[in-house]
Amino acid sequence: MADVWDAYRHELDGVEDQVRKNLNSSVTLVNTVAAHILNSGGKRVRPLLLLLSARLCGYAGRDHHQLGSLVEFIHTATLLHDDVVDDAEIRRGRRTARKVWGNQISILVGDYLYSKAMCQVVEFRSQGINEVLAEACKKMAEGEVLQLYYNGNPAMPETDYIKIVEHKTAGLIAAACRMGAILAEAPEAQQDALFRFGQHIGIAFQVADDTLDYTANGKSLGKTIGQDLRQGKATLPLLHLLHHCSDADRQMIKDRMETRTLTDEELQRLIRLMEQYGSIAYALNRAQAYVAAAKRDLDLFEDSTAKRALSVAADYMVTRDR
Ligand code: IPE
Ligand code: IPE
Ligand code: MG
Ligand code: MG
Repeated sequence: MADVWDAYRHELDGVEDQVRKNLNSSVTLVNTVAAHILNSGGKRVRPLLLLLSARLCGYAGRDHHQLGSLVEFIHTATLLHDDVVDDAEIRRGRRTARKVWGNQISILVGDYLYSKAMCQVVEFRSQGINEVLAEACKKMAEGEVLQLYYNGNPAMPETDYIKIVEHKTAGLIAAACRMGAILAEAPEAQQDALFRFGQHIGIAFQVADDTLDYTANGKSLGKTIGQDLRQGKATLPLLHLLHHCSDADRQMIKDRMETRTLTDEELQRLIRLMEQYGSIAYALNRAQAYVAAAKRDLDLFEDSTAKRALSVAADYMVTRDR
């Protein structure tokens, strides 16, 4: 994946230029708060996927930099809101905006970034782009609400877990991929294939994120480990463990989800149990299956540099450590 990042560094720099240009509110506090998170080292996965999708479909123009930056604005808005919902203290190794400026500012700057993206997106005068992006934003909110509905509930069906993940994370990634194809004026079948590709890798991406919440090194992840359970969130590795562990351990997990407390010792014990029962491997295998499905979605396209890069990016969704 390092080679892919390097090969498209120049393109991603174009995205960064647009990010900077778009941060031009006359209310300087808006720019300050937005810059705090925007300049804190996000991976820029969504803009990368957008520009690779555009290149795959033969796009030769320059509008993908701006569209990529707008997708990153929307992603950033969701992170500002997500950190309020999740009481997060650290993101990308920095104090979250809500810790520095408070929840109210975080929510409002998130709203600003959403709205700013929409203001700029309409300038593309593309009904297709407007529709796919608006739909993705709607789905993200639905996913977050469904997740809250299940908060503290260890009996969430796995199908609803996948539904949450598909809505809150895969929707925007799929939209980024389709928008690349739309920019390139690709045939409907190619747009659909890239949308499905994005949905599949997007699900894999979030399942991997939910696994990293237990297995990662907090420093390289830039987020607090164990935060999902501490917030009452059951994710795939935990759901698997709940189905396979002893009654006593199940009761312990339920208590922790209810009281929303988890010491480091308890977290270490949970990780050991997950390893013992194969819960981590189970989640990563599920994620791998989505990556495999995503690669089949690319069958429609002739071999090219962009196609190979997308295939590498698909693998990276699961092998990443941050
Ligand atoms: C974090 O997304 C939120 C999820 C959907 C898991 P990223 O992992 O893309 O976050 P950054 O932008 O690189 O920090
Ligand atoms: C992803 O869920 C959030 C969005 C899609 C907005 P998480 O809550 O797992 O993301 P992180 O772990 O805080 O980045
Ligand atoms: Mg979160
Ligand atoms: Mg997470």
